[in-house]
Amino acid sequence: MLGLRHAAVSLPLLPLRAAAAMSTLLVSQPRYGWLRELGLQEENPGVYNGRWGGSGQVVTTYCPANNEPIASVRQASLEDYEETVKKAKEAWKVWADIPAPKRGEIVRQIGDALRQKIKVLGSLVSLEMGKIYVEGVGEVQEYVDVCDYAVGLSRMIGGPILPSERPGHALIEQWNPVGLVGIITAFNFPVAVYGWNSAIAMICGNACLWKGAPTTSLISVAVTKIIAKVLEDNKIPGAICSLVCGGADIGTAMARDERMDLLSFTGSTRVGKQVALMVQERFGRSLLELGGNNAIIVFEDADLNLVIPSALFAAVGTAGQRCTTARRLFLHESIHDVVVEKLAKAYAQVRIGDPWDSDTLYGPLHTKEAVKMFLDAVEQAKQQGGSVVCGGKVINRPGNYVEPTIVTGLPHNAPIVHTETFAPILYVLKFKEEEEAFAWNNEVKQGLSSSIFTKDLGRIFRWLGPKGSDCGIVNVNIPTSGAEIGGAFGGEKHTGGGRESGSDSWKLYMRRSTCTINYSKDLPLAQGIKFQ
Ligand code: UN1
Repeated sequence: MLGLRHAAVSLPLLPLRAAAAMSTLLVSQPRYGWLRELGLQEENPGVYNGRWGGSGQVVTTYCPANNEPIASVRQASLEDYEETVKKAKEAWKVWADIPAPKRGEIVRQIGDALRQKIKVLGSLVSLEMGKIYVEGVGEVQEYVDVCDYAVGLSRMIGGPILPSERPGHALIEQWNPVGLVGIITAFNFPVAVYGWNSAIAMICGNACLWKGAPTTSLISVAVTKIIAKVLEDNKIPGAICSLVCGGADIGTAMARDERMDLLSFTGSTRVGKQVALMVQERFGRSLLELGGNNAIIVFEDADLNLVIPSALFAAVGTAGQRCTTARRLFLHESIHDVVVEKLAKAYAQVRIGDPWDSDTLYGPLHTKEAVKMFLDAVEQAKQQGGSVVCGGKVINRPGNYVEPTIVTGLPHNAPIVHTETFAPILYVLKFKEEEEAFAWNNEVKQGLSSSIFTKDLGRIFRWLGPKGSDCGIVNVNIPTSGAEIGGAFGGEKHTGGGRESGSDSWKLYMRRSTCTINYSKDLPLAQGIKFQ
């Protein structure tokens, strides 16, 4: 295996055996010396609350491309969690008093610090999550972009002054931070999703407490080190951006904790439902970004030069591990066969390899368990009447590689078609009418992303309208995945209903007060009520 081609430092290429003899952990091998630039060591503290610590279990994370151990992180114990929540609540008192545009200035500095480390952090994403290098860097770019967005927003958030029906009265809408925002993120976007939440939550005046996925703990630590330096350099309490690496015990503690004023959770629908119920049980606030089962619909008039690369990126990109991945492709019967043929050809040309290699378009799945889920789904698809046009097997090389897979011939309502399997399997279905295709798009439980390919203006507006797509993301002539940060990101139904990142998502991180102020000497009551 060669060193990371894009790593910010040049890497001496030692023979593998010499490197392995020095340490079994990748972080101690000279070719991975660039990990030190991110402040990573063999064992890393996984708790930050102004000080680094952690007294919980030690977890080692593995490179999905070869299943070699990278380094380990000492997670938070429940005592560490308790201490961190207290410190974050204390730190909030300082942060909430800082004017929003000044908070924006801190977020601007965080964006700049990320810019400086974008290549090396992108390389770590590639190494620990397994996505290809350009996508790893792209993810850090999303965080940078949302920082820029949040800086502007820090001078714009606020409510209107509304006309009061009473003389001498002012009706003002005041927005205040909710307080402490818990952020639980998934393995597949271990940088960007934290960025969307924390940059916006911060300018709104909240403290954040982050728990990333245990399998991407090094990324959580590396990102927090970058943020911590900015906060500490500005003499702002580090606990504003606290980190508690941990598993389900910490996640459950966060969901049940009354002090967690908002809990943002990104992950599976199954776990999201448990989180939502625990938060609702205490009348808390949650922001959920859960599973998707996204469809692309291709009509007879579609530009196939757009369709093929779009379907390829949406279905095969990130090895099918985006929540926005296209899992269902509905093709009009008149173009079904030609699109399947062209797409299968495109699949055959996908360059599979080490994710950090600049030629590679397609890397491994994140874990061995994901490989099992992939095989199981392929088996179910066959049993339910599907034909595997290409792929369907594990690739014979180290790491968690599976073939990108196309399945045709399944009924639109086959159970496997309605299931989100976090793997690169695309179910291709044949349709006749627009109404039928729109109905299929909407008939699944999830409602995240959707896309049509057509030149028909009427159809485009029907798609955007009340009887069109019921998803949170509704696209035309582009893939289902790869959303920009400027829009609100999230979806309906079992996707959880949350919205993160752009547009007015900031409102979810604040509480609204309707304030009526009487500046007259009289006491007129609303609705003309006389009470004397
Ligand atoms: C996710 O998969 O959880 O739209 C987020 C996209 C990315 C974000 C995906 N910007 O595909």
